[in-house]
Amino acid sequence: YEIYLQGMTGSVPRLPTDLTRLEELTEQRLGQGPVGYVAGSAGSGSTAAANRAALDRRRIVPRMLRDVEQRDLSVEVLGRSLPAPLALAPVGVLSIMHPEAEPAAARAAAAQGVPYILSSASSTPMEEVAGAMGDGERWFQLYWAKDREVTASFLARAKAAGFTALFVTLDTPLLGWRPRDLDRAYLPFLHCVGTANYFSDPAFRAGLAKPVQEDPQAAVRHFVGMFADPAKTWPDLAFLRENWDGPIVLKGVLHPDDARRAAEAGVDGVVVSNHGGRQVAGSVAAADALPRVVEAAGDRLTVLFDSGIRTGDDIFKALALGARAVLVGRPYAYGLGLDGQAGVEHVIRCLLAEFDLTLALSGHSRPTTPSADDLTEEAR
Ligand code: FNR
Repeated sequence: YEIYLQGMTGSVPRLPTDLTRLEELTEQRLGQGPVGYVAGSAGSGSTAAANRAALDRRRIVPRMLRDVEQRDLSVEVLGRSLPAPLALAPVGVLSIMHPEAEPAAARAAAAQGVPYILSSASSTPMEEVAGAMGDGERWFQLYWAKDREVTASFLARAKAAGFTALFVTLDTPLLGWRPRDLDRAYLPFLHCVGTANYFSDPAFRAGLAKPVQEDPQAAVRHFVGMFADPAKTWPDLAFLRENWDGPIVLKGVLHPDDARRAAEAGVDGVVVSNHGGRQVAGSVAAADALPRVVEAAGDRLTVLFDSGIRTGDDIFKALALGARAVLVGRPYAYGLGLDGQAGVEHVIRCLLAEFDLTLALSGHSRPTTPSADDLTEEAR
């Protein structure tokens, strides 16, 4: 009701409350370049479209007369009590969207009590982002470098900066085929060569033959070689277990057998995700993969979900399909681009308010009770 009450004094929200309108607005205000990076996905965009279709195809069957007056959105995730089943997904190089970049997004998350997952490919060193967050819950996303020294250095820095959980992204051993970036010959990371998280790392810098300013191209080649490692296999996870004593979550799991392997490897959770459709064109939609992963995980893994969440009812559907909580990526990147920290807070507040209403209007008062029974699936 806050918005309606403010409306009585003639004030309306600065940004749309239908978050699906943010992409178009960002394009109008910031132009093709930044939107191309954020909205862009693999190939012709078929996976990103499938992510949306898989959520849209599932419809909620609301239940009546179930006393939804008192509601509690809190959930336990990785041993922490969160105020709501939502976290901000790792999104790299946010300086493309706003000069205040990751610290502004992180401050918004902390102000709203939502965990912030910082990307390895942050345009701001992780210590600076942590400093902006106070004691806000922060998790670190690792792009798993070829060089063990660099990985170990990242983990030690993240630990020291108060990041409590490690999200290891498995779906990006190579960067996907992204026409909107390719057509402009635009590698987003070049936006922040020299200032980014990687370039602030002593182990990473030790591998540079010359200072970045003297030979930027060599620096970029070094970065690309370091960024990810297509040779990794499941036994390599032991190294991360040895070097990180908090929860480990594998991001980008879609096959139930991979969920079983994750459980056997002793990690704590998985994110069912296809990277928002940015990696494999023609991939299974994340929401279609979710139920089988949940079944394979049983009670051994915390299952989180992302890829396509745009509204409160999407959150409800993901929880009903078995996710404990969801991550959201593009909507908050647009919020940041449009209005900095306030824009990110707007996105979080809209998502949570709409989720709270959807939960109640569907006959639930806790995020843990929706189930497959609350959904119907329309024919494809
Ligand atoms: C991402 N994503 C991502 N994931 C990751 O593990 N590390 C990263 O650095 C990035 N960077 C990144 C940049 C941009 C611009 C986007 C849109 C996405 C993927 C992200 O964490 C998440 O999986 C998806 O964004 C979820 O899909 P939606 O919510 O964008 O549909």
